[in-house]
Formats: sequence, C-alpha cells, structure tokens
Amino acid sequence: MGRFDHRTVLVTGGAGGQGASHVRAYQAEGANVVIAGIDESRGCALAAELGARALYVRLDVTDETSWSAAVQAAEGHFGPLSVLVNNAGVQNPAAPIETTERRVWDRILGVNLTGAFLGIKAAAPSLRRNGGGVIVNIASTSGVGGTAMYAPYVASKWALRGLTKTAALELGRDRIRVNAIHPGVIATPFITEPAVGSDAPISDFYSAEPFAIPRLGEPADITRALLFLTSDEASFATGSEFVIDGGLLLGPALQHEAA
Ligand SMILES: NC(=O)c1ccc[n+]([C@@H]2O[C@H](COP(=O)([O-])OP(=O)(O)OC[C@H]3O[C@@H](n4cnc5c(N)ncnc54)[C@H](O)[C@@H]3O)[C@@H](O)[C@H]2O)c1
Repeated sequence: MGRFDHRTVLVTGGAGGQGASHVRAYQAEGANVVIAGIDESRGCALAAELGARALYVRLDVTDETSWSAAVQAAEGHFGPLSVLVNNAGVQNPAAPIETTERRVWDRILGVNLTGAFLGIKAAAPSLRRNGGGVIVNIASTSGVGGTAMYAPYVASKWALRGLTKTAALELGRDRIRVNAIHPGVIATPFITEPAVGSDAPISDFYSAEPFAIPRLGEPADITRALLFLTSDEASFATGSEFVIDGGLLLGPALQHEAA
C-alpha cells in the first residue's frame, strides 16, 4: 500500500530533470501520474515505461487552453486531481538588467510565474471535486535573495512565493493546501546544459564547495520533500516554504584553522 494510492498527481515539466524524479516516486507510491509538458518524446517514453497508471499530456504552461485540456484529460483518465506540482521552469541567459531584452523577461515570467498562476486556476476546480488536495509550486533559493545577472528568473521566483501564499489563503477552506519548495542547485539539465540564448551552463562556474553540504543536490532530495509536503503527514502545512539547498542560503561555511 502506497501513500498516494488512488490519487491523481499532475506534474508539469514531468518528462525530465526533477519532474521525472517526482513522477517516478509518485507512481511507485501508488499514484496515477500525469506527465504534463512540452517534451513529447520523453514524456511518452516515460509514460510507456511506467505503464497503466501513467499518462503523458501535452501542456504548454503559458497557454490557458492547453491547461483546460490537460486537466480534462487527467480527470477523464484517472478522476479528479489530488496533487498539482507546478514544476516547469526556465532560466534566462546571464545578463545584467540593462541588456536583458524584454522578450527574455516575458518568456521567463511567462513560464515560471504565469504558468503556475494558470495551473492553479485550472486545477482548483478539479481539486475541489476531489474533496481537497495539495498544490506545490517549485520556486528556488533565487526567490529568497538576489542573484546578479538573473533578474527575470529571480523576479519570477519571488513572485511565485506571493502567489503561493495568496492561493493558500484563498483555497484553504476548500481543503486545498498550497506550499512552495525552494531547491538549491540541483544536478539536472537546468544547470548542466546552457539556457536558451546562452553558451555556458551554470555548472561551468558554480561550485558547492563553500557551503555546509558541499555537493550538488540530486532530484531525489527535492522529491522526498515534495512527497512529504503533498502527503497526509503534512496536513497542517499551508503557505509554507521548504528550503532544500544544502545550506546555500546560509552562505559560506566557516573555515576553522587549527590553533
Ligand atoms: N536545477 C536547479 O538547480 C534548480 C534550482 C532551483 C529551482 N529549480 C526549479 O526546479 C524546476 C525544475 O527544474 P529542473 O531542474 O528539473 O530543470 P529541467 O530543465 O530539467 O526541467 C524543466 C522542465 O520544464 C519544462 N518546460 C519548460 N517550459 C515549459 C512550458 N512552457 N510548458 C511546460 N513545460 C515546460 C521543460 O520541458 C523541462 O521538462 C524549475 O521550476 C526550476 O526553476 C531548479
């Protein structure tokens, strides 16, 4: 018996990176999983691998019509949603604000912020039909501080925190909990491959060495926190923010020299 038996879980950007880790874990815990995203070949392959309790649906999170169709497909296949994970996200190429083009700003805010807003809008009625449920927005440690050269990304993740807290207030009485997770630097294509419009991946210049836990995070580090937050074990948690970053936000660890 799994923690998510008979529950329908929709993960955006679920075909690769952290999303695929989440999808696999939910499926292993008994859920019906909906892999929702734009990467059709990997999404279909993952659904085929996982079998009858998995479905790929094409979803561009920036498109409201695409959201309605995805939620409808999920419900038609498995029944109303229990969990929505707003995981899809994109990074901007490193650039100062003064040279960041408006279209880059719009694209990053469109996916990371508007995508989650549209997701909450589309999923809330389905979660209500389920008698309640959980939404988790995957934000970032970049949404807690500032990061030079990443204004669109940082702004999108800060705003996602406000959206999380507001949705938690609006949906709490419908037994829908809304929380955020702030991953630190996690080993996925997000950091090992260059962002659109960029030549170098973040992994070329980032080092975890100064921090309390001196390693990159793994998708499974985030998956375990996500499964807890969306399980009944976290039934009193809403509007909360779960930082899983190996101590990144603490700043560099102190180096004690032997006297
Ligand atoms: N990897 C990190 O270091 C890190 C750190 C903090 C936060 N995050 C956040 O974690 C989340 C997952 O990122 P990841 O590390 O797995 O990166 P990733 O690049 O592997 O995955 C991002 C996913 O989003 C999907 N996507 C992009 N645009 C989309 C759209 N318009 N509609 C639907 N899907 C779309 C991609 O196809 C991909 O599957 C993102 O929100 C990211 O901002 C990542």
